[in-house]
Amino acid sequence: MRHLMSPLDFSVDELEQLMDLAVDIENNPQKYSHTCDGKKLATLFYEPSTRTRLSIETAMLNLGGSVLGFSSAQTSSASKGESVADTIRVISCFADIAGIRHPKEGAPMVAAMHSSIPVVNCGDGGHQHPTQTLTDLFTIRSLKGRLSNMTIGLCGDLKFGRTVHSLIAALSRYTGIRFVLISPDELRIPDYVREDVLDKQHQDYVEVTRLEDALPQLDILYMTRVQKERFFNEEDYVRMKDFYILNEEKMKLAKPDMYVLHPLPRVNEISVDVDDDPRAAYFRQVQYGVYIRMALILTLLEVKVC
Ligand code: NCD
Repeated sequence: MRHLMSPLDFSVDELEQLMDLAVDIENNPQKYSHTCDGKKLATLFYEPSTRTRLSIETAMLNLGGSVLGFSSAQTSSASKGESVADTIRVISCFADIAGIRHPKEGAPMVAAMHSSIPVVNCGDGGHQHPTQTLTDLFTIRSLKGRLSNMTIGLCGDLKFGRTVHSLIAALSRYTGIRFVLISPDELRIPDYVREDVLDKQHQDYVEVTRLEDALPQLDILYMTRVQKERFFNEEDYVRMKDFYILNEEKMKLAKPDMYVLHPLPRVNEISVDVDDDPRAAYFRQVQYGVYIRMALILTLLEVKVC
């Protein structure tokens, strides 16, 4: 039995297969509409979410399966003091696969250790967010036709942004990737990402503060929200929150084929005047997220479709 805790749980070849499956799903949705008939997905969300929970649930519904679960810790037995380990043992009796989001780093891993069904990490604290990374990789591959030989700018909260940590780890396995890490000093990538991923793999990267300086070089710009909920004090958040605002004017500095991605939710970091620019790909990214999560569910449940 297989879980998804980190984007590195799949080899580069396995990721290719997963994305090829997602392309087939995108092109032939009818072929897959009953492939999970009778199967159930449980979503255990101890932290707020719109996209990730509804996207993985939509993925299961599109495959003919059904969904159950909770969307906040307050409405689950966690509020009575139940451990994640006990909850997943219980859920294993109800469902065939589970998606977990938790504010504590490592909680989905604890669940996986006590589970008899596949567990998907749907975001653990400021640590990892592998299904978002699958979405991001699939979006980049679909838009650019490749995942290698590119300059990728990651901008905003690189310290607390789990989508950034997972995406850097995943993209570092492809050749010719150069990262431009754009953040204020206080929100630079954590040391463990720098040491365990970037330095270890001799990854080509630079750290800069000004978005305007980076923009002309980029093939992809990955914007992120300042992660309010992970700040220790409100004052620091208020000082940082509008540090970057991508607008129509700044987009003039970018290449004509540079795409803008964002895991969403957006706050102020992308002005709405960018939304109509053909290079704004963040809403298309949401749609790609459903296809790749459908492919993920089929793969983890070992459903073969001829
Ligand atoms: C991200 C997350 O939860 O980490 N959202 C998402 O799942 N699409 C990004 C964020 O909340 O800023």
